[in-house]
Amino acid sequence: MQARADDLRRDGVVIALVPTMGFLHDGHLALLREGRARCDELVLSIFVNPTQFGEGEDLDRYPRDEAGDLDKAQRCGVDTVFAPDAGSMYEPGYQTYVSVRHLSEPLCGARRPGHFDGVASVVTKLLNICKPQVAVFGEKDYQQLAVIRRMVIDLSIDVEVVRYPIVREPDGLALSSRNRYLSDSERASATCLFQGLEAARNLAHTGERDAAKLVTACREVIEREPEARIDYVELRDATTLETVDRLEPGAQVVLALAVFFSDTRLIDNARLSTK
Ligand code: PAF
Repeated sequence: MQARADDLRRDGVVIALVPTMGFLHDGHLALLREGRARCDELVLSIFVNPTQFGEGEDLDRYPRDEAGDLDKAQRCGVDTVFAPDAGSMYEPGYQTYVSVRHLSEPLCGARRPGHFDGVASVVTKLLNICKPQVAVFGEKDYQQLAVIRRMVIDLSIDVEVVRYPIVREPDGLALSSRNRYLSDSERASATCLFQGLEAARNLAHTGERDAAKLVTACREVIEREPEARIDYVELRDATTLETVDRLEPGAQVVLALAVFFSDTRLIDNARLSTK
């Protein structure tokens, strides 16, 4: 892959990378279309990265569909699929990790120790291997995107990070490979994530500035669903991910949440603003 990327770059070809863990859904396909519009050579990486899964998480049962992914990739105009195995990404003796310290600590980082070190490390490797000028990431994994953007700046990595808005089902549920774990009734209840975010957003538009009240408005909607178990709902600065007490006019803040349905943990987020 590195040799291929070198050849392409020598010929002046612009490479875009869409890093994924496979089991592609319409959200991934939107990232691919965005990448396609920005490059000559579209590279899709498919790698279920073991170092970003904690003990007891769903590494072993993470959904895979290689044939389906290749078919979708072809239909989205992907030129190259990079699908390494774990052994070649992490050779015996592997010991180097990238840690984006403060951004990795709160929210999902607090519940999934080491997760963002795994993400930052594998993304660094994927960028070094595929050598794209452009890399596209979805905003559903908001903290992941914040970590990667910081990492790219801090390590002077020569790539443009493109963020793509959350793609949702018609009823508002954010697309995620993990949605397939939901039972029918959990799937129906899971719309409460989006509804909770909307409740907070609407309250913000009526002039409410108090972070605690905005968070409560969101939590109340989710708590009405007996199958939903809130992991966190928090209002944070959109760039630093530091806590905010008030939604000040012009401030960039994000309401981020994680909610369990049985063992399935879904995340979602929305930017809030005063109108
Ligand atoms: O968002 C994902 O699918 C993964 O975290 C990523 C960025 C491909 C790294 O393994």
